[in-house]
Amino acid sequence: MTTGASTDFATRLDKTADDTEAVLGRLLADGILPDEIARPKRLMDAMRYSTLGGGKRLRPFLVVESAAVFGVPRDAALLAGAALECIHCYSLIHDDLPSMDNSDLRRGRPTLHKAYDDATAILAGDALLTLAFDIITRDEIHKDATVRLLLTRALARASGIGGMAGGQMLDLAGEGRFGDREPVDVARLQQMKTGALLRYGCIAGALLGQATPQQYKALDDYGRALGEAFQIADDLLDVEGDAAALGKPAGQDAAMGKTTFVTQLGLNGAKQRVSDLLASADSALAIFGAKGDVLRAAARFVAERKS
Ligand code: IPE
Ligand code: IPE
Ligand code: MG
Ligand code: MG
Ligand code: MG
Repeated sequence: MTTGASTDFATRLDKTADDTEAVLGRLLADGILPDEIARPKRLMDAMRYSTLGGGKRLRPFLVVESAAVFGVPRDAALLAGAALECIHCYSLIHDDLPSMDNSDLRRGRPTLHKAYDDATAILAGDALLTLAFDIITRDEIHKDATVRLLLTRALARASGIGGMAGGQMLDLAGEGRFGDREPVDVARLQQMKTGALLRYGCIAGALLGQATPQQYKALDDYGRALGEAFQIADDLLDVEGDAAALGKPAGQDAAMGKTTFVTQLGLNGAKQRVSDLLASADSALAIFGAKGDVLRAAARFVAERKS
C-alpha cells in the first residue's frame, strides 16, 4: 500500500467517525417520536455516555465504504451505519457487565455499569438494540421498502441467536461456567460474536446498492475474512497490548479462562492466520478493481491495529 492510500484511508475513517458521531448525537436527543411516550433522562444520558465520544467507528465505516462502491448516497449509508453502531455499543455495554466479562474500562472511560449502575446498563443496551431497528426501517435509508426489509432481517440475524448474542453464549460456555467445559470451535464462536456484525457492515453496502449476486458474494467473502482477522487481532491485543493504548483492560481473556484464537493457534499461528485472511480479503475485492482500494486498506488497518 502506498503512503497516499493509507493517508486517504485515515482521512476517510476520521471523516466517517465525525459524521457518525453527529448522526448518533441527533438520534439520541430528547425529542420524542410518534408512538413514543417519553424519553427518561437517566436512560438517555446512559445511552449517550456509551455511544458518543469514542470508538473507532469501524462498522459504520464498512457500511459507508461498501455502499460507496455502488454510489449509494452517503447520508443513507451513514444512517444505516449508525443503526449498526447502536447494536455494537449495546453489545459492548452488556459484554462488560459483571455477569459477563466484568470489565471496568471501555473506550478509555469507566464502563457504563461503573459510571451508572447494572440496571441502567442493561436498559441502555435494550434501548440501543431496539433503536437500531427503528433507524434501519426509516424511509431515508432507501426508497424501496423491500431493500429496507432485507437490511432489517439481515441485521436481526447478525445480532441475535444465530449471530452476536449466540456467539456471546458460546464465549461464556467456553469458559466452562455452565458445567462441563466442552471443546470450543473458536472460528465458529468468533464468526458469531464479532464476525456477524462486521460482515453485516459489508453486506449492508451491497444491499443498499442493490448489488448483483456476484458483487454481494464478494462483499460477503470480504466481510467474513475481515471479521475473523478483526477478532484474532483483538485476541492478540489482549495478550500483547496494554490498557492505556487499548482503552480497555488487557490480559482479561487468560484471567477468565477464555478460549481464543491465541489459546488455539498460539501467538505465531494467530499472526500467520491474520496474514492469510488479509490475502483472502484482498482477493475477494478483485472484481471491484480500484473501487475496492479503501476496503482493502480497511482490512490492513484491522489486522495491524493497536487499539
Ligand atoms: C471491540 O470492538 C469489541 C469486539 C468486538 C472485539 P472495537 O475494537 O471495534 O471497539 P470500538 O468500537 O473501537 O470501541
Ligand atoms: C466482545 O468480545 C464481542 C461483543 C461485544 C459482541 P470481547 O469480550 O473479546 O471484546 P472486548 O475485548 O471486551 O472489547
Ligand atoms: Mg466478551
Ligand atoms: Mg469483553
Ligand atoms: Mg477481547
